[in-house]
Amino acid sequence: MNDAIAREIQVSIQYMWQHVQWRGIKAFSIKDELRKIAITEMKHAEAIAERLFYLGGEPTTTPTPIYVGKSLREMIERDAKDEEEAMKLYKRIIEVARREGDVTTATLFEKILSDEEEHHDFFTSLLEEI
Ligand SMILES: [Fe+2]
Ligand SMILES: [Fe+2]
Repeated sequence: MNDAIAREIQVSIQYMWQHVQWRGIKAFSIKDELRKIAITEMKHAEAIAERLFYLGGEPTTTPTPIYVGKSLREMIERDAKDEEEAMKLYKRIIEVARREGDVTTATLFEKILSDEEEHHDFFTSLLEEI
């Protein structure tokens, strides 16, 4: 779960800085959405940290490496990849939680997974246009 928290903190900062460093008309049209997604990722980090702490773990404060990117395409390609990796990780966590009978953790990650699927869909749709 700490890997999940590290990634959530990473993308939360990554999307917020992409929101700040936007350039050009195409980026203008998505800068507010990036901010919205960044806040969602922060809430994911909080929810996972709460669950981990409840289970007796110590939530990490270190994000995985942040990549802001120079061009809009660079940014969004990386974001789509990060969402894909999060989806893979969360599917594994759901599997393990179910196997161990931890329904609450499984349900939490199912909810988060559906958000990541939405983000992934948003980023990959953008890549068709930029
Ligand atoms: Fe997330
Ligand atoms: Fe996401």
